[in-house]
Amino acid sequence: MSAPPELPDVVNRAFDVSRRAGYVSFCRNETGRLLAALAATRTGTMAEFGTGCGVGTAWLRSGVRGEQARILTAELDPKLARAAAEIFTDDPLVDVLTADWSTLMDKGPYSLLFLDSEQQPSEVGVDAIADLVEPGGIVVLDNFWPCEQWPPITGGRVDTLREEWLTDERFTAVEVMAASDSSVVLATRR
Ligand SMILES: C[S@@+](CC[C@H](N)C(=O)[O-])C[C@H]1O[C@@H](n2cnc3c(N)ncnc32)[C@H](O)[C@@H]1O
Repeated sequence: MSAPPELPDVVNRAFDVSRRAGYVSFCRNETGRLLAALAATRTGTMAEFGTGCGVGTAWLRSGVRGEQARILTAELDPKLARAAAEIFTDDPLVDVLTADWSTLMDKGPYSLLFLDSEQQPSEVGVDAIADLVEPGGIVVLDNFWPCEQWPPITGGRVDTLREEWLTDERFTAVEVMAASDSSVVLATRR
Protein backbone atom coordinates (compact mmCIF):
# COMPACT_ATOMS: atom_id res chain seq x y z
CA MET A 1 0.00 0.00 0.00
CA SER A 2 1.25 3.46 -0.76
CA ALA A 3 1.78 5.57 2.36
CA PRO A 4 4.22 8.19 3.59
CA PRO A 5 6.93 6.60 5.79
CA GLU A 6 6.47 9.07 8.66
CA LEU A 7 4.25 7.90 11.51
CA PRO A 8 2.20 10.11 13.84
CA ASP A 9 4.12 11.00 17.04
CA VAL A 10 1.75 9.08 19.27
CA VAL A 11 2.25 5.95 17.15
CA ASN A 12 6.04 6.34 17.36
CA ARG A 13 5.70 6.55 21.15
CA ALA A 14 3.63 3.37 21.13
CA PHE A 15 6.29 1.55 19.07
CA ASP A 16 8.97 2.70 21.56
CA VAL A 17 6.92 1.28 24.42
CA SER A 18 6.36 -1.98 22.50
CA ARG A 19 10.06 -2.35 21.78
CA ARG A 20 10.96 -1.79 25.44
CA ALA A 21 8.35 -4.36 26.48
CA GLY A 22 9.56 -6.81 23.80
CA TYR A 23 5.98 -7.02 22.52
CA VAL A 24 5.36 -7.51 18.82
CA SER A 25 1.68 -8.30 18.49
CA PHE A 26 0.20 -5.11 17.13
CA CYS A 27 -1.91 -4.07 14.17
CA ARG A 28 -0.09 -3.41 10.91
CA ASN A 29 0.50 0.16 9.84
CA GLU A 30 -1.95 -0.30 6.95
CA THR A 31 -4.66 -1.24 9.43
CA GLY A 32 -3.54 1.58 11.71
CA ARG A 33 -3.96 4.13 8.94
CA LEU A 34 -7.44 2.78 8.32
CA LEU A 35 -8.23 3.09 12.05
CA ALA A 36 -6.99 6.70 12.05
CA ALA A 37 -9.07 7.59 8.98
CA LEU A 38 -12.18 6.07 10.58
CA ALA A 39 -11.48 7.72 13.95
CA ALA A 40 -11.40 11.08 12.18
CA THR A 41 -15.06 10.57 11.25
CA ARG A 42 -16.13 9.77 14.84
CA THR A 43 -17.50 11.61 17.82
CA GLY A 44 -18.52 10.10 21.17
CA THR A 45 -16.75 7.07 22.62
CA MET A 46 -14.63 4.56 20.73
CA ALA A 47 -13.45 1.28 22.26
CA GLU A 48 -10.81 -1.34 21.66
CA PHE A 49 -10.90 -4.92 22.92
CA GLY A 50 -7.27 -5.92 23.51
CA THR A 51 -4.86 -2.99 23.90
CA GLY A 52 -1.60 -4.93 23.67
CA CYS A 53 1.06 -2.22 24.02
CA GLY A 54 -1.19 0.51 22.65
CA VAL A 55 -0.23 0.68 18.97
CA GLY A 56 -3.81 0.32 17.70
CA THR A 57 -4.99 2.76 20.37
CA ALA A 58 -2.33 5.24 19.24
CA TRP A 59 -3.46 4.96 15.61
CA LEU A 60 -7.06 5.60 16.70
CA ARG A 61 -5.92 8.54 18.82
CA SER A 62 -3.95 10.02 15.94
CA GLY A 63 -7.18 10.34 13.96
CA VAL A 64 -9.35 12.01 16.60
CA ARG A 65 -10.35 15.54 15.58
CA GLY A 66 -9.74 18.00 18.41
CA GLU A 67 -11.53 16.61 21.43
CA GLN A 68 -14.41 15.18 19.41
CA ALA A 69 -14.03 11.60 20.64
CA ARG A 70 -12.55 9.59 23.49
CA ILE A 71 -11.14 6.08 23.57
CA LEU A 72 -11.60 3.28 26.08
CA THR A 73 -9.35 0.28 25.68
CA ALA A 74 -9.12 -2.88 27.79
CA GLU A 75 -6.12 -5.17 28.23
CA LEU A 76 -6.16 -8.30 30.36
CA ASP A 77 -2.41 -8.51 30.90
CA PRO A 78 -1.47 -5.97 33.63
CA LYS A 79 2.12 -5.52 32.38
CA LEU A 80 0.95 -4.68 28.88
CA ALA A 81 -1.82 -2.41 30.17
CA ARG A 82 0.69 -0.51 32.34
CA ALA A 83 3.05 -0.13 29.40
CA ALA A 84 0.27 1.12 27.12
CA ALA A 85 -1.03 3.52 29.79
CA GLU A 86 2.43 5.23 29.76
CA ILE A 87 1.77 6.46 26.23
CA PHE A 88 -1.39 8.26 27.29
CA THR A 89 -0.48 9.48 30.79
CA ASP A 90 -1.22 13.10 29.95
CA ASP A 91 -4.04 12.42 27.55
CA PRO A 92 -7.55 12.95 28.93
CA LEU A 93 -9.07 11.39 25.82
CA VAL A 94 -7.68 7.87 26.34
CA ASP A 95 -8.36 5.45 29.21
CA VAL A 96 -6.44 2.19 29.32
CA LEU A 97 -8.25 -0.26 31.58
CA THR A 98 -6.50 -3.25 33.08
CA ALA A 99 -9.45 -5.52 32.64
CA ASP A 100 -11.18 -8.17 30.66
CA TRP A 101 -12.82 -6.59 27.62
CA SER A 102 -16.21 -7.61 29.00
CA THR A 103 -15.78 -4.60 31.36
CA LEU A 104 -16.50 -2.45 28.32
CA MET A 105 -19.88 -4.07 27.75
CA ASP A 106 -21.74 -1.57 29.93
CA LYS A 107 -19.77 1.55 28.95
CA GLY A 108 -21.15 1.90 25.42
CA PRO A 109 -22.75 2.40 23.06
CA TYR A 110 -19.67 3.06 20.99
CA SER A 111 -19.20 5.06 17.82
CA LEU A 112 -16.37 2.72 16.81
CA LEU A 113 -15.35 -0.64 18.21
CA PHE A 114 -12.00 -2.20 17.30
CA LEU A 115 -12.06 -5.93 18.03
CA ASP A 116 -8.52 -7.18 18.37
CA SER A 117 -8.18 -9.30 21.49
CA GLU A 118 -7.94 -12.64 19.66
CA GLN A 119 -11.30 -13.64 21.18
CA GLN A 120 -13.11 -16.84 20.38
CA PRO A 121 -15.46 -16.35 17.41
CA SER A 122 -18.52 -16.83 19.67
CA GLU A 123 -17.41 -13.85 21.80
CA VAL A 124 -17.23 -11.46 18.86
CA GLY A 125 -20.14 -12.75 16.83
CA VAL A 126 -22.75 -10.24 15.70
CA ASP A 127 -25.24 -11.20 18.43
CA ALA A 128 -22.69 -10.52 21.18
CA ILE A 129 -21.57 -7.17 19.74
CA ALA A 130 -24.48 -5.54 17.86
CA ASP A 131 -26.01 -3.66 20.78
CA LEU A 132 -22.66 -2.23 21.91
CA VAL A 133 -22.55 -0.06 18.81
CA GLU A 134 -24.67 3.05 18.23
CA PRO A 135 -26.60 3.52 14.96
CA GLY A 136 -23.99 4.56 12.40
CA GLY A 137 -21.27 3.12 14.64
CA ILE A 138 -18.50 1.09 13.01
CA VAL A 139 -17.11 -2.28 14.08
CA VAL A 140 -13.58 -3.07 12.86
CA LEU A 141 -12.49 -6.72 12.96
CA ASP A 142 -8.81 -7.23 12.22
CA ASN A 143 -6.68 -10.09 10.95
CA PHE A 144 -8.54 -12.03 8.30
CA TRP A 145 -6.80 -13.89 5.52
CA PRO A 146 -7.95 -12.35 2.21
CA CYS A 147 -10.13 -14.71 0.22
CA GLU A 148 -11.92 -14.28 -3.12
CA GLN A 149 -14.38 -17.13 -2.65
CA TRP A 150 -17.83 -17.13 -1.16
CA PRO A 151 -18.35 -18.25 1.51
CA PRO A 152 -14.94 -17.20 2.83
CA ILE A 153 -12.60 -20.08 3.61
CA THR A 154 -9.83 -20.05 6.22
CA GLY A 155 -7.65 -23.11 6.88
CA GLY A 156 -9.87 -25.27 4.66
CA ARG A 157 -13.07 -24.40 6.55
CA VAL A 158 -15.84 -21.88 6.06
CA ASP A 159 -14.97 -18.81 8.11
CA THR A 160 -18.35 -18.51 9.78
CA LEU A 161 -17.39 -15.42 11.81
CA ARG A 162 -16.52 -13.45 8.68
CA GLU A 163 -19.55 -14.86 6.83
CA GLU A 164 -21.84 -13.80 9.67
CA TRP A 165 -20.46 -10.24 9.87
CA LEU A 166 -20.67 -9.78 6.12
CA THR A 167 -24.31 -10.88 5.88
CA ASP A 168 -26.10 -9.78 9.07
CA GLU A 169 -28.96 -7.38 8.36
CA ARG A 170 -28.16 -5.21 11.37
CA PHE A 171 -24.97 -4.03 9.65
CA THR A 172 -23.77 -2.82 6.28
CA ALA A 173 -20.42 -4.54 5.97
CA VAL A 174 -17.43 -4.88 3.70
CA GLU A 175 -14.13 -6.73 3.76
CA VAL A 176 -11.17 -4.54 2.84
CA MET A 177 -7.66 -5.72 2.06
CA ALA A 178 -5.21 -3.88 4.30
CA ALA A 179 -2.25 -5.70 2.71
CA SER A 180 -1.81 -8.64 0.35
CA ASP A 181 -1.99 -11.07 3.27
CA SER A 182 -4.35 -9.31 5.66
CA SER A 183 -7.89 -8.05 5.48
CA VAL A 184 -10.24 -6.21 7.79
CA VAL A 185 -14.02 -6.36 8.08
CA LEU A 186 -15.79 -3.02 8.52
CA ALA A 187 -19.40 -3.21 9.64
CA THR A 188 -21.59 -0.12 10.14
CA ARG A 189 -24.64 -0.43 12.39
CA ARG A 190 -27.86 0.39 10.54
C1 LIG B 1 -3.41 -8.72 18.94
S1 LIG B 1 -3.12 -8.11 20.56
C2 LIG B 1 -3.74 -6.48 20.51
C3 LIG B 1 -3.01 -5.56 19.64
C4 LIG B 1 -3.52 -4.11 19.70
N1 LIG B 1 -4.95 -4.02 19.46
C5 LIG B 1 -2.79 -3.28 18.66
O1 LIG B 1 -3.34 -3.11 17.55
O2 LIG B 1 -1.69 -2.82 18.93
C6 LIG B 1 -4.37 -8.88 21.51
C7 LIG B 1 -4.37 -8.49 22.98
O3 LIG B 1 -5.62 -8.86 23.54
C8 LIG B 1 -5.40 -9.17 24.89
N2 LIG B 1 -6.55 -9.95 25.38
C9 LIG B 1 -6.83 -11.26 25.16
N3 LIG B 1 -7.99 -11.60 25.76
C10 LIG B 1 -8.45 -10.48 26.37
C11 LIG B 1 -9.61 -10.18 27.13
N4 LIG B 1 -10.52 -11.12 27.39
N5 LIG B 1 -9.78 -8.93 27.60
C12 LIG B 1 -8.85 -7.95 27.33
N6 LIG B 1 -7.72 -8.18 26.60
C13 LIG B 1 -7.53 -9.42 26.12
C14 LIG B 1 -4.10 -9.95 24.86
O4 LIG B 1 -3.48 -9.93 26.14
C15 LIG B 1 -3.32 -9.19 23.79
O5 LIG B 1 -2.49 -8.22 24.39
